[in-house]
Amino acid sequence: MKNSILTFISAKKSGKKLTMLTAYDYSMAKLIDECGVNGILVGDSLGMVCLGYKDTLSVTMDDMIHHTKAVARGTTNALVIGDMPFMSYQTSLYDAVKNAGRFVQEAGAQAVKLEGGAIVCPQIQAIVDAQIPVMGHIGLTPQSVNMFGGFKVQGKDMIHAKKLIEDAKKIEAAGAFAIVLECIPSKLADIISKEISIPTIGIGAGGGCDGQILVYQDMLNMFSDLKPKFAKNFANVGDLMRDGFKSYVKEVTEGTFPSIEHCFKIDDEILNKLY
Ligand code: KIV
Repeated sequence: MKNSILTFISAKKSGKKLTMLTAYDYSMAKLIDECGVNGILVGDSLGMVCLGYKDTLSVTMDDMIHHTKAVARGTTNALVIGDMPFMSYQTSLYDAVKNAGRFVQEAGAQAVKLEGGAIVCPQIQAIVDAQIPVMGHIGLTPQSVNMFGGFKVQGKDMIHAKKLIEDAKKIEAAGAFAIVLECIPSKLADIISKEISIPTIGIGAGGGCDGQILVYQDMLNMFSDLKPKFAKNFANVGDLMRDGFKSYVKEVTEGTFPSIEHCFKIDDEILNKLY
């Protein structure tokens, strides 16, 4: 059944855990969608895991639209959420609404996500007023990596922990349907999850969140540049792929691939006339 923001809201009420994964292309979206996740985020993590940048700051709206279109084509049941890249919503309310609209109108997403606390609440409210559902994102928000001085756990001291609780409440009041909590202490995530009535989706925020999200390359051991502590290895797909690629190289080199079953035939009569 197609997931919508109502699925997210009712899961919070019933206590059913929500599942989300990232995807960036058609075939992976199809695979993930078939496995029953509630939501697929076309994350701006695209910049790191697919495009090879050191952070997410170089990702553009056009990159995001291109990949969100592919994911939307491969998704039947999950809610498709497009991640608003750096400078696509910080600059003005107009830019925020316009760019959120592109995710829905051009790319086929059903919602958008944007990073930040109280400071981006006017943008959240404006996008929601334009009838586009918004997912918030607080804690380690990668677009703020230069302000944080690196990819670091957030909310460990009193001032910052309190600020995150306040931000979550303000994001809820601005009209968001869910909030990603990234890389914050589990007990702080538990408090936030209890204090708000929209679902929290954790990544490095412990089991008390109302749902979880992971970058699929992290959980399948397919990305070696960064290995976050919170990313459990659910399957060694990276190793399986390496084995497959090595076997291909070996068989082509040795001349055992392609063999007869991978080849197409032509009638001998035609063949004999060719030379
Ligand atoms: O870009 C992304 O993939 C994200 C998730 C890690 C939440 O924002």
